[in-house]
Amino acid sequence: MKQSTSLVPQHVAIIMDGNGRWAERKGRPRWMGHVAGARVVKDVVAHCARAGVEQLTLYAFSSDNWNRPVEEVAGLLELFESHFRTQAEPLEQKGIRLSVIGQRTRLPLALRQVISDVEARTAAGRRMHLRVALDYSSRAAIQGALPAQQAVRGLARGTTILPPVDLLVRTGGERRLSDFLLWECAYAELLFLDVLWPDVTGAVLDAAFEDFARRERRYGHVPQRVSA
Ligand code: FPP
Repeated sequence: MKQSTSLVPQHVAIIMDGNGRWAERKGRPRWMGHVAGARVVKDVVAHCARAGVEQLTLYAFSSDNWNRPVEEVAGLLELFESHFRTQAEPLEQKGIRLSVIGQRTRLPLALRQVISDVEARTAAGRRMHLRVALDYSSRAAIQGALPAQQAVRGLARGTTILPPVDLLVRTGGERRLSDFLLWECAYAELLFLDVLWPDVTGAVLDAAFEDFARRERRYGHVPQRVSA
């Protein structure tokens, strides 16, 4: 498998955590945290493309998030729909391809339609590949990629396993992967930040990339030394 030695992480994955706490700390309802979080998504996508990141994968809604209160789930699904609707044009102009990963069948029809539209419209984008994970479970994705499961369920081959992640960032202070890209993070550098997602800025990202650039990635080998 191709091993990255680039100083800028080629594939960045982000667990965007802390929207609810951000809102609660300001005495606002949780949905306002998600709205603020969606604004930050736009800035982060643009910033990563400018920095030279080739692939950015964002964890927006896990398969376990269906267990949240129905109003919160409904609000999030509406937010995704309006985000994809309004971002189709700017993403296309920036040369950013957008794909949605996860189990699409449980999403509302209108959202699925908007997803198909934005995917088709941005398909030619070559500057960066943005993937948004909706109704995503890494364990389900790995299971679905197993040949035996494909044979039983008639699934397409290898559609849900992504290229390896170089840098996995989780905001919001928790230190866990929560069923996100478990296979793809085999050799990822992990960075857990206390900052809440809506407070993420370009400076926070730049510091994350600097931290990544300082790490020695050995992939199980011995360190490389410059010979005299
Ligand atoms: C976790 O924070 C965040 C989510 C479950 C939703 C992520 C959604 C966004 C960042 C906004 C919209 C995204 C797109 C792609 C348009 P939390 O609510 O669990 O925060 P908490 O741990 O503080 O409660």
